[in-house]
Amino acid sequence: MQTKTHTIGLLTSGGDAPGMNAAIRAVVRTAMFNDIQVFGIKNGFEGLINGEFLPLDARSVGGILQRGGTILHTRRSERFMEKTWQREAIRNMNEATMDGLIVIGGDGSMRGAHELALQKFNVIGIPASIDNDIWGTNMAIGVDTALNTIMEAVDKLRDTASSHSRAFLIETMGRGSGYLAVMAGIVCGAEVVLIPEVPTTVEDVAASVEDAYRRGKTHAIVIVAEGANIKINDLSQAIDALDVGFKTRVSILGHIQRGGGPTAFDRLLAARMGSAAINGFLKGQSDVMVGLNGRAIELIPFTQVLEHKRVANMEYYTMARELAR
Ligand code: F6P
Repeated sequence: MQTKTHTIGLLTSGGDAPGMNAAIRAVVRTAMFNDIQVFGIKNGFEGLINGEFLPLDARSVGGILQRGGTILHTRRSERFMEKTWQREAIRNMNEATMDGLIVIGGDGSMRGAHELALQKFNVIGIPASIDNDIWGTNMAIGVDTALNTIMEAVDKLRDTASSHSRAFLIETMGRGSGYLAVMAGIVCGAEVVLIPEVPTTVEDVAASVEDAYRRGKTHAIVIVAEGANIKINDLSQAIDALDVGFKTRVSILGHIQRGGGPTAFDRLLAARMGSAAINGFLKGQSDVMVGLNGRAIELIPFTQVLEHKRVANMEYYTMARELAR
């Protein structure tokens, strides 16, 4: 970006994630500190098309650091994939004298942001999605909180599973990625983990559950990622029919995984990423996403982010299996 940024837009898009509000606050407060005006855009890319802009100042982002969800609201916008609507969005931003945009969201949102950058609008992305399926950042905002929510839920389910000597099949979110399921498998001590990246069979899962029964376990925990090749209710019926020792129960954690106040990790990540996005603009950066690489915050070109698909880490998957003895 050649000219100094004076006014920027800020939106949240895609599935909400705990810590989005903390990121909004960080962007606005860092912008204020640098005399940059911020317009909040409501309802993601839809609000960009509809011109739903509201000025934000330091006070309008007070008291939101600890709150889940997003005060700017979010949408998944089908029509923003079309050039006509992207042009309309740019026209609206030009009219409001915006010379930059920060997009907080998942991989689809980063794609939308890149489309605007291709049309010469200055854009920086901040990754936020509980799925942790965005390439270019070790962690997206919201992942740590979601994992903690899953851990608390599974700990509670284990109590009842153990009391009744049952196998609990627990579904975690993650349409295309097994990240949450694998990590939940490790931190919750699951007997089996099913992920989209590793297709399996009912017989294999049933054998592992039966094996746990034979080894004298009082319960079995099976974590099933939403996108796994076997649907959780089918799995439950099939295992019960095979009579493996434990009777099964199903628990679909659902959208509870996306709610709640962000953990310290997510608040800190949001603060660092929000600050880095504004400082990126000040240094003339655009068409990039903020990412956590090791301990460092870096800016990665959208082209790199979007040409890769992030899948669950197989070393962790293997570890989850090894620890399930
Ligand atoms: O935010 C990503 C995600 O949580 C996926 O794991 C899940 O499949 C999807 O959102 C569901 O979102 P919604 O019900 O809001 O469309």
